[in-house]
Amino acid sequence: MITATESKLPQIKMALPGPKAKQVIEYDAKYISPSLCRSYPMVAERGSGALVEDPDGNTFLDFAAGIAVCSTGHCHPKVVAAIHRQAAELIHIAGTDFYHRHMPELAERLVATMPKSHHWKVFLGNSGTEAVEGAIKLARYATRRDKLIAFYGCFHGRTLGSLSLTASKNTQRKYFGTLLGGVEHIPYPYAYRCALGHTQENCGSEIIELLEQQVFKRLFAPEEVAAIIVEPIQGEGGFIPASLMFLRELQRICNQHGIMLIVDEVQTGIGRTGKMWAYDHAGITPDIVLTAKGIASGMPISAFIAKESVMQWKAGSHGTTYGGNPVCVAAALATLDLIEGGLMANAKKVGEYIFGKIGDWPKRFKIVGDVRGKGLMMGVEIVRDQRTKEKDKELRDKVVMNAFRRGLLTLDSGENSIRMSPPLIIDEEQADCAIRIMEETIAEAEKTL
Ligand SMILES: Cc1ncc(COP(=O)(O)O)c(C=O)c1O
Repeated sequence: MITATESKLPQIKMALPGPKAKQVIEYDAKYISPSLCRSYPMVAERGSGALVEDPDGNTFLDFAAGIAVCSTGHCHPKVVAAIHRQAAELIHIAGTDFYHRHMPELAERLVATMPKSHHWKVFLGNSGTEAVEGAIKLARYATRRDKLIAFYGCFHGRTLGSLSLTASKNTQRKYFGTLLGGVEHIPYPYAYRCALGHTQENCGSEIIELLEQQVFKRLFAPEEVAAIIVEPIQGEGGFIPASLMFLRELQRICNQHGIMLIVDEVQTGIGRTGKMWAYDHAGITPDIVLTAKGIASGMPISAFIAKESVMQWKAGSHGTTYGGNPVCVAAALATLDLIEGGLMANAKKVGEYIFGKIGDWPKRFKIVGDVRGKGLMMGVEIVRDQRTKEKDKELRDKVVMNAFRRGLLTLDSGENSIRMSPPLIIDEEQADCAIRIMEETIAEAEKTL
């Protein structure tokens, strides 16, 4: 049982789920689509900072942040105030039909984060998958080509266009029939499991060769390819970072053949890795960048940001009723103020602090195969045997569940990894608490081997 020293640490008062949480779970089962897969019986009632409280008064340290969404923590007072202010002034007008200043205000802020070598334009939407859909359309429109290249293990969303790119779990595609044509998947660099023994620095050269020597020669010519879409760190796929070399090589290939490089920063962006965009670490300039999740601390808004030379489509080509909603924009502007005003730097600092303490887990715990990530995007891969690297989903699930029982919220990722993506506000004391809980649960799971 965790002893709370201050309100910023978790406190579990009973076996979980408690009686009130159980009622909500039963209520939910009666009315909500069974397609949602909740990892464990966490019921949220209110949140503040990095803590979430359930209806029974248990508090949890949130290292999931609503899948990397609550970047400024739960209900940051500045975000709440911005939402209140805007809600009293104008909630909706439909930017697809009328003008309002909020849309260009947010677009200007996003453009300011982009490489200065180009002019950029922004399309505001509602969710990550909608940004992906829009980017597919824009890439096809701009190039007049239709082929798309994505990566095994990637997750880009669940609507039919984005699902055609997603290659994470077959349950996400099963029974949904024929998806978009012209999509080819190739392997993603995975240093921990690289058959060629490459390191995090140089992993992926063989994939570049596969793309240029096989895909482009045997499947479709590069001049037929509209876009390559890549997550700089695979999120749902297991928090797997691409090597910087790999991202630079993709840019080279795209430049060479007039292919759009779409970087999906839905999970990695908005300061989480210690820079505004994860692709910034590679120093590349994508053609289209996608953002959602952390951009507005939980309000539903997304964007795709494209080179002005690319975003040249005609009025009516693309639109949306809610995109750029003033209340969501207000939350996004307040979020960006906080991220740029210190939280991005905090993500780097606390991220380095945590990696300094967990980097040796593979030496200390025989079920930890790999620890990886950047900033406050931390992945832990659980294996049955470090030598064979046999994946162990069951053990991983045990660690996630037992961390929850001790008051730490994490998420599963990929087949056998755990992702930790706390709000960017966490401090070292909260980091230490999460590390301690994880170490206890990993040690406990290890004993069951
Ligand atoms: C990298 C990435 N792209 C796209 C999406 C889809 O976002 P949404 O769930 O908001 O549609 C996700 C969601 O997890 C994601 O991680």
